[in-house]
Amino acid sequence: MKELTLTSREKTIELGKRIGEQLQSGDVLVLDGDLGAGKTTFTKGIAAGLAIPDIIKSPTFTIIHEYQDGRLPLYHMDAYRLENGGAADLGLEEYFDGDGVCVVEWAEFVAEELPADFLAIHFKRTADDETRILAFEPHGAHFTQIVKDVTA
Ligand SMILES: Nc1ncnc2c1ncn2[C@@H]1O[C@H](COP(=O)(O)OP(=O)(O)O)[C@@H](O)[C@H]1O
Ligand SMILES: [Mg+2]
Repeated sequence: MKELTLTSREKTIELGKRIGEQLQSGDVLVLDGDLGAGKTTFTKGIAAGLAIPDIIKSPTFTIIHEYQDGRLPLYHMDAYRLENGGAADLGLEEYFDGDGVCVVEWAEFVAEELPADFLAIHFKRTADDETRILAFEPHGAHFTQIVKDVTA
């Protein structure tokens, strides 16, 4: 798996921005890793890459935040609270099949709803507080190309 080491919060946001600039209608990204690994921070970069002016906050309690004021709509989901089920009742397919970009934290709880093509990114903390390792698992040609570009 291709990996990148990011030595600061700003570098993680900058990477998210580069990826966000290349995203298209209907794209789905799934982010996993421990609490504090940087998933929401990375999503701030994705939003910047989509030219979304809003401040991105974790949707842990509401499950989904929608942002409509960028180049494409952004649906930012945090499925952590679906740990004990309930994902099937939320109509998430409508978001995944829609025109926007979906970014899902804790996607293991919505695995059955995911489309065929998506980009999974695994976030790992390191001994150094400021450093994160991101491992990329692209599914489909579009995401393979994006990963190639950002890891080149
Ligand atoms: N290289 C880095 N990348 C991302 N976040 C970092 C990095 N270094 C330190 N941090 C800090 O780690 C925390 C990550 O929190 P957050 O993005 O909310 O994680 P998660 O959504 O995975 O729970 C933030 O406080 C952020 O400032
Ligand atoms: Mg988060």
